[in-house]
Amino acid sequence: MVTGHGPRFVSIGDASGLAEGALKLVEVEGRDLVVVRIEGEVYALDNRCPHLGGPLSGGRVEGRAVVCPWHGWQWDAKTGRAVWPQVDWRAFTYPTRIEAGQILVRVA
Ligand code: FES
Repeated sequence: MVTGHGPRFVSIGDASGLAEGALKLVEVEGRDLVVVRIEGEVYALDNRCPHLGGPLSGGRVEGRAVVCPWHGWQWDAKTGRAVWPQVDWRAFTYPTRIEAGQILVRVA
């Protein structure tokens, strides 16, 4: 979906298909993203863990964080900041919104 010259949002599917606490791997224009719904909000992060590249979509949700399956680092789903360990690292996040029942991810 293209919205003029402003930010570009792409639909990644039906919002009702994403259960609370579920992690979903989606490919958007060649990039692997993990999408998650926490407390009703939908967030998208780069699927590649900033630590050593583990696949976040293979992890789990704990509180408001996505837990990497490789070494258990935890990333705040909204901000991307490392929750554990307490280091100044950040996962790449993509803005999302829900429109007409579709999850839209901003890619540019
Ligand atoms: S690769 Fe994700 S915690 Fe190490």
